[in-house]
Order: sequence, then structure tokens, then C-alpha cells
Amino acid sequence: MGRRPFIVANWKMNKTVDESVGFVEKFLPLVSGVEDVDIALAPPYISLMPVSRALQGSSVALAAQNMHWEEAGAYTGEISPGMLRDAGCRYVILGHSERRQYFGEGDGEVSRKVLAALQEGIVPVLCVGETLGERDHGRTFDTVGGQINGGLADVVLESGQDIILAYEPVWAIGTGKTASPEEAQEVHSFARNQLSDIFGNNVAGSIRILYGGSVKPENAGVLMSMADIDGALVGGASMEPDSFAGIVRFGN
Ligand code: PGA
Repeated sequence: MGRRPFIVANWKMNKTVDESVGFVEKFLPLVSGVEDVDIALAPPYISLMPVSRALQGSSVALAAQNMHWEEAGAYTGEISPGMLRDAGCRYVILGHSERRQYFGEGDGEVSRKVLAALQEGIVPVLCVGETLGERDHGRTFDTVGGQINGGLADVVLESGQDIILAYEPVWAIGTGKTASPEEAQEVHSFARNQLSDIFGNNVAGSIRILYGGSVKPENAGVLMSMADIDGALVGGASMEPDSFAGIVRFGN
């Protein structure tokens, strides 16, 4: 269906400004000549501007890891969509399981953020995924379906607007346990059907669905070979330029 692969580095709460910029300097030469894959880096907030400058002239995009939904105001410690845009962000990761688990984010907040990002012209990367308990109790589709419907509530995609979905089974994040390509594909296909119900087949067919959870250079290729896996959201293995470049170059 011609969906361009999209590989995103999520550095979480790692790397100083110097380390972030140092990564970019080492990483860009490693991916020069890669033209058939979209790439984005999501550093911590304080590194957004310096990384944005370091990425200038390259095709690697900048992403944020979170944001508030309001444009401005008395929200101590928060960052607005306009600020991210100003810093050069093209994408924002929303509803990551760590935000849901440690910071109490629910589908209500996530959906306000998704709408605010779209309004600002930032592409939301909406994260969904079940815990081990939910999988063991046969609740994977309920959970993922509920998070997709909840996170995309009231979203109407206008032409030119894009969203990205990221399926990240919570039990596979940072644990070294990857969902098997078949397990992941099963949920990706379910997610695409859900997107079809919301947006219709054409739009759903164009939305990229990333897999996340212990993606490494060694397993990226086989995951990416599955029909509905269009990219990867990478934590641990995105921390070193060589290993992240190895994932970006999954096809080679
Ligand atoms: P991981 O993290 O690659 O370290 O499992 C993925 C994520 O949380 O986005």
C-alpha cells in the first residue's frame, strides 16, 4: 500500500544536551543515503532545540516525547504544542505506556493531546498496548481497541493531516522480550481494522502503525516484513548511533 517505513528513537529520560548532539553527529553519516525510510529522534525537552539545529540540512525529523494540550497558561512544568512546533518538532509521542503507568494519563488526556497536536500541525504518534496481565486474561484486543477509540475520540482527519499509531505491548518494553512477528502482526491487523471503522478503509490503509518493545537491529527486519508493521518505536536500542542506524537500515 506504499506506506513509507518510519523508525523513531525514543530516548526517554536519557542523554544530556551534549550527549544528544554528539549522537546526531555520529548518527547522520551512518544513515546518509537512506532515502526510503522516515526517521525521527525524540530527545528530552531541553535537547529539542540543540538537536533541531544539529539535524538541519538532514532529512531526520524531530519528535517530542509528550506535551500538554493547552496553548499557554498556568500549567507549571508543562510544554505546549506551539512551543514544540517552535522548537522544530514534526512529531509528538502521546500516551506512551510509561506516561499512562507512572503519570496517570488516561485516554481522556491522550485524546485532548492528539486533537491539540493535529490543530498545531504536529503529527501525533499515539501509543497503545496491553499489559502482560491483560494479555494473559485474553484482553489484548479489548485494551488496544479501547485505547485506539479513546485516544482518537473526536478526531476527524482533514486532508494533509496525518497520525501514526504505535503498538507497544507493555510486557515487551525494555524487557528484552519482543512480541513474535506473528503476535505483533495479529494486533497490528486488528488495529488497522479499528482504524478502518473510524476513518474508512482508504485513510486506514495509509496510516502507519509502528511496533515498539525491544526492537533491535537483529529483529527489525523480520518485524518490518509483516504486512501491517510499518515501522518501529525504539527505546533501548536507539541510544547508540550504531544500533539505531542498524534498525534504520533493516532492509540492508
Ligand atoms: P524499548 O522501548 O525499545 O526499550 O523496549 C520502546 C518504547 O518504550 O518506546
